[in-house]
Amino acid sequence: MSSGRILAVESSCDETAVAVVERGRRIVASVVASQVQLHSATGGIVPEVAARAHLRWMIPVLDEARDRAGIEDWSDVDAVAVTEGPGLAGSLMVGITMAKSLAWSAGLPLVPVNHLEGHIYAAWLLDPEEPDKPAPEFPLVALVVSGGHTFIVEMQDHLRYRLLGQTVDDAAGEAFDKVGRLLGLSYPGGPAIMRAAAGATTHDRRFPRAWMGESYDFSFSGLKTAARHQVAAALGLPPESREIDGGGLAQADVAELAWAFQDSVVDVLSSKLLRAARSSGARSIVLGGGVAANGVLRERIEAGATGLGLPLVVPRPGLCTDNAAMIGAAGYHRFEAGARADRGLDARPSLKLAV
Ligand code: KG4
Ligand code: ZN
Repeated sequence: MSSGRILAVESSCDETAVAVVERGRRIVASVVASQVQLHSATGGIVPEVAARAHLRWMIPVLDEARDRAGIEDWSDVDAVAVTEGPGLAGSLMVGITMAKSLAWSAGLPLVPVNHLEGHIYAAWLLDPEEPDKPAPEFPLVALVVSGGHTFIVEMQDHLRYRLLGQTVDDAAGEAFDKVGRLLGLSYPGGPAIMRAAAGATTHDRRFPRAWMGESYDFSFSGLKTAARHQVAAALGLPPESREIDGGGLAQADVAELAWAFQDSVVDVLSSKLLRAARSSGARSIVLGGGVAANGVLRERIEAGATGLGLPLVVPRPGLCTDNAAMIGAAGYHRFEAGARADRGLDARPSLKLAV
């Protein structure tokens, strides 16, 4: 009898992850080896370094997932799901190659999954001991905000996406990372900015908002320039100065600049998502991607959703950032819908969400 269990593999960026998920919801085991420390030395991801770390960790992570899931033999699962894109080509290839080998040796179907739909499907996940809770209700709107992507989609049903808007330049997480670096904070910038902002005692500074008219599109590239100018001013340097080193800022300035930057990003993201929910007649709201781990963003959207009388589903922070359980959740629906890949499956670094 079918177990409804999917073995899922994720390696699109800088987390090596393997999970076993039951019927698209219940996490049986989820293991993530993060490369954050490795990349903090360079202040960002070096693709060759990331791919090599995936090679180093993929098998230990797989073994750990199998132990935790109490699975003797991989042929006990229904299928192997793997992220085919978008992401870094070399990193994706490591996961794809492992998933192919497993599927082939255990005689299992191979199911390709889009990393972006994985971030949306994280909202369906339940931790191993977590009590059952209702799944997000369709139609819904989802905001995915990560280091590589920022977009709003409408979903009428499983696997059916209508793109409402997306960033025209940087992703929100990328803006957090770049501004974090300008402020002399550690990598990745998102959590560091959130922590610094919480320490702000005055809130007098203001960063611009790119509203992009009435659209649901986003633009965050201007924030980096605004941040440069404000950091220069705080250091008593001319706005176009090339010698900016956020390490020289007073702690109070870092906190206030971090707060003002975060306020701008949160304002734009939450306003657009809530407007999309209102005007599309959504019955629930979903938030996902690494930036959704931001407590201030979550609170702002939660308050707006409550005002609209709509349930908001946000995965816990560890399921907002990259993991394989979300690939297992999306993979289950892809598997049920008949999606299959053969041994020719290749990495698709620029894959879009099918609309
Ligand atoms: O989804 P993710 O793990 O990887 C991608 O698919 O990109 O997202 C990583 C991004 C990074 O840019 C990181 O700075 C951001 O998520 N991030 C946060 C927070 N935690 C992670 N941004 C704001 N606040 C946070 N607490
Ligand atoms: Zn991601």
